[in-house]
Amino acid sequence: MHNYNLKPLVIALVIIHAYFGVTTKGQLRVGFYSQTCPFAESIIRNAVQTAVSVDRQIAPRLLRLLFHDCFVQGCDGSILLENGETSERNAKGNLGLAGFEVIHNAKAQLEATCPGVVSCADIVALAARDAVALTAGPFYGVPTGRRDGRISNIQLAANLPDVDDSIELLRSKFREMGLSDKELVLLSGGGHTIGTSACFFMPKRLYNFTGHGDSDPAINSQFLPQLKAQCPLNGDVNVRLPLDLSSQFTFDDHIFHNIRNGFAVLASDARLYDDKNTRQVLDSYVGFTNRRPSFKADFAVAMVKLGNIGVKTGSEGEIRRVCNSVN
Ligand code: HEM
Repeated sequence: MHNYNLKPLVIALVIIHAYFGVTTKGQLRVGFYSQTCPFAESIIRNAVQTAVSVDRQIAPRLLRLLFHDCFVQGCDGSILLENGETSERNAKGNLGLAGFEVIHNAKAQLEATCPGVVSCADIVALAARDAVALTAGPFYGVPTGRRDGRISNIQLAANLPDVDDSIELLRSKFREMGLSDKELVLLSGGGHTIGTSACFFMPKRLYNFTGHGDSDPAINSQFLPQLKAQCPLNGDVNVRLPLDLSSQFTFDDHIFHNIRNGFAVLASDARLYDDKNTRQVLDSYVGFTNRRPSFKADFAVAMVKLGNIGVKTGSEGEIRRVCNSVN
């Protein structure tokens, strides 16, 4: 039997792997573009920064975009595709999604610098990170190397978490994505530390909670008349309310205090306080002991996990030339 020395081959493969930014199945890594498109992350950061400096509502939109991309067919940029009425992005749960132009703009700049290299799915993940950092949230390393999906179908987005879901349903929808109760609280409650909601998502909570013309009892009695005044029955569903009352532009733990005190705007945020487990997680971030975990650090870890859901790597999918259509 020949005794081949495979060491040089293995070393060469490792170098090729690192140089050309190839990922093995399912694996992402921080700095994936460091050789193939060294300025990728700074190009994206600049695009996000410029957009947010013009309109600070863009930051929460970019954060929300990642969640909606990852929960349908994994983080594969499918939310960006436009293929008519049946596009994934037209699903009811995706209503109000915005910030697409920032992703398209970053992609155009990346294509001019290093064509065919940076995936739209990675741009979404990096832009969400940059948006969080720009609102005083944590800055964390984003593992990259995602490839773009080729499918967009409205029906695949039918099962997104809904504002009016029970806590049991929210938990099971997160668990299906490999996310724990802790991550449900951090990402959905915590993610709503910035941004706004349209009145469109309020009627059941305010006017027909159990089907008898009642309101969600979790709403603080001082807050209920304010919410009703802002979102009257049969009023303009496009009026927008801050999700984290009095702190909508700053990434902080204020949202958890609001949820605990009955000032959650979204029903799904209020539900996090209905359940013993999720309540305990939420309370841990607003506790007053020295052992209080860091919301920002834990949010960053949860974001990396969100960004890993069902990713396409290696030879799966493609690197789109433009983000709103397949190659
Ligand atoms: C239980 C799961 C969730 C539900 C039911 C939910 C629901 C909603 C709804 C109804 C809105 C208002 C949309 C609009 O009117 O434009 C919203 C906004 C938002 N969501 Fe969630 N969400 C969930 C989880 C998440 C997660 C995991 C994140 C990110 C980590 C997130 C980030 C955001 C942000 C930043 C906004 C504000 C968007 C803006 O200002 O345009 N959400 N969410």
